[in-house]
Amino acid sequence: MREALEELQRKAAGEAASAKSIEEFLAIRTRYLGRKGLLTDALRRLKDVPPEERPALGKLSNDIKESISKQLDQALEDIQSREKYDALNEEGIDVTLPGRTRRYGKLHPVTQVDNEICTIFSSLGFSIVRGPEVELDYYNFEALNIPKDHPARDMHDTFYVEDTIVLRTHTSPVQIRTMEKQRPPVRILSPGKVYRPDSDISHTPMFHQVEGLLVDKGVTFGDLKGVLTYFLQEVFGKDTKLRFRPSFFPFTEPSAEVDIQCVMCGGSGCRVCGQSGWIEILGSGMVDPEVFKVVGYDPEEISGFAFGLGVERIAMLKYGISDIRLFFENDRRFLEQF
Ligand code: PHE
Repeated sequence: MREALEELQRKAAGEAASAKSIEEFLAIRTRYLGRKGLLTDALRRLKDVPPEERPALGKLSNDIKESISKQLDQALEDIQSREKYDALNEEGIDVTLPGRTRRYGKLHPVTQVDNEICTIFSSLGFSIVRGPEVELDYYNFEALNIPKDHPARDMHDTFYVEDTIVLRTHTSPVQIRTMEKQRPPVRILSPGKVYRPDSDISHTPMFHQVEGLLVDKGVTFGDLKGVLTYFLQEVFGKDTKLRFRPSFFPFTEPSAEVDIQCVMCGGSGCRVCGQSGWIEILGSGMVDPEVFKVVGYDPEEISGFAFGLGVERIAMLKYGISDIRLFFENDRRFLEQF
């Protein structure tokens, strides 16, 4: 009996270890531990052994039953993990491949420069205002001292929406809209999109401008120079040299275009500055009395200056970009560099 039990244990262990599937495992368990199983059968035969041997054999039987149970549990675990492994293998997951990296979005370089400009002027007390991109002819031209058929309109090739409605060609209409609503003092900065039907290496039909306007009692051309010098030296560095050149805009008098010393060659002359050593960077001037009259300000009482600049132009100089169209091609290889 003892040998028979031990033989049973050996065989059960061997079979459990070689079971390859859950089905095989279940069959083995039933064969040994089931109600009509081999071990159950052996236990039943205990009643045939002499009473004095029964306790020892009974204990042995229980031990063996427990040990077979344990071996079967282990076998089940092995089968399950093997099946999981096989399933993963079949799915073909290559755990040695590098993970997918997450791409983070970035601000467009034009937006970055736009923000930088706004931050500098905010620190000087300018408040940021915005105006419509689809604009009345009145605000874009008329109120800025550019009447119909005035030759100055030729400076701005224009997208017309209707006879009296245009895509604004500059941010200067926001000067008028602001002064119509507000009494002096005025100190505003107005960034936004503007439109002109142009397209080449330095022009796109849409680009960004920033308009500045400061009106108060006793504002002078010296204030204009001071503010613009501070601003341009913040953007291009403290040693940047400026040049104020007489110019003409219908809505400022006197007017000046501002150049900075070429950021590429430092003034010695190169392709970027056309060998002149200087780069034109913005338009500016003292607000024309005609413009004040249109918005009901008294030019005898107050004065002011205004300026307008191209954001792409500043970004191109800052980052050494030679073709403005790159900004709007949405090529990530370009945009990710900023
Ligand atoms: N609006 C002018 C332009 O787009 C720039 C400018 C603004 C000039 C304000 C003087 C004063 O060319």
